Amino acid sequence: MLARTDDIEEAVGVLRAGGLVALPTETVYGLGANAEDAAAVARIFHVKGRPPTHPLIVHIGGARQLDEWVEEVPETARLLAERFWPGPLTLVLRRGARVPLEATGGLQTVAVRVPDHPVALALLAAFGGGITAPSANRFGSVSPTTADDVRAELGDAVDLVLDGGACQVGVESTIVDVTGDVPAILRPGGVTREDLEAVLGRPLAVPSASPVRVPGQHPSHYAPRARVVLVEPDQVAAAAEQAYESGQRVGVFLPAAFAGTPVKAHAVAAVPASLDAYARELYGFLRELDRQGCDLIVASLPVEEGLGLALANRLRRAAGPRSTV
Ligand code: TXA
Ligand code: MG
Repeated sequence: MLARTDDIEEAVGVLRAGGLVALPTETVYGLGANAEDAAAVARIFHVKGRPPTHPLIVHIGGARQLDEWVEEVPETARLLAERFWPGPLTLVLRRGARVPLEATGGLQTVAVRVPDHPVALALLAAFGGGITAPSANRFGSVSPTTADDVRAELGDAVDLVLDGGACQVGVESTIVDVTGDVPAILRPGGVTREDLEAVLGRPLAVPSASPVRVPGQHPSHYAPRARVVLVEPDQVAAAAEQAYESGQRVGVFLPAAFAGTPVKAHAVAAVPASLDAYARELYGFLRELDRQGCDLIVASLPVEEGLGLALANRLRRAAGPRSTV
């Protein structure tokens, strides 16, 4: 059952009372609290099991409200907000006095975005304030893209789950730091680097996959329970078979170019040829192979263009070392 007017009113009540509301966005589901309520924000960290230094995104109802949340809005930010909001773009700016340090992990900058989902926008309009929301998963695990995923992840720890159906983008927002002279992509996501570059008229640097760049960018993020190994696309079937023969419970992300190839595995996720479709399905695939009890997932990276950049980033992190926090 999708969220209705009654649900939005109930959600506003929960937020005003300092509670937590899981809300759909176009990227992934968020675990939301009143951005100005430091105690409610602290509850988010507790429920997620997230280190308190790992900053959150403040969701607002429209680009017009940006000035209320930040110290200053540079021209670049204005341009990007105008072009991409509502949408899967997060801007990092200097923190306004209204944002508690609890929400920014102690930083003097704040991440802000306007989500492009009717339920999220209805909630933000009815609530009036900002909603801080990280993805509604336990720290380090796969982001939820349906209301059922949220319930499975967080259960009773969240006061209300608004159901907005399956997320249409499926990977998190692109984060762009516009506090310096040169804008920088901190996390590739739903808005492509190419689209950003076209608007800005300049090339943008993207972080390499391995080193830890910003607070909370740990390599083990977005990880399913199963171990993920990355191989070349034409090696996927052979690597899966080898693991299968050695007695492991194997899941496979079969690249579109090899669709129909017989694979020895316990579970096969057929990677769609379209990057849009792949982004929409990625986290669902990881969850499904976990549900099927896979110990190992064999996958390959897409070409890192368009949404392929975000997909490759998430797959590398899913395959990254698990020990760091
Ligand atoms: O699509 C999304 O962005 C989703 C939906 C719910 O909006 N949210 C999301 O939130 O992915 P979360 O908390 O899982 O990831 C937020 C990222 C973190 O990597 C964090 O380090 C970064 O944003 N971040 C937040 N504030 C920052 C800041 N002031 N400077 C640099 N990075 C920041
Ligand atoms: Mg997250």
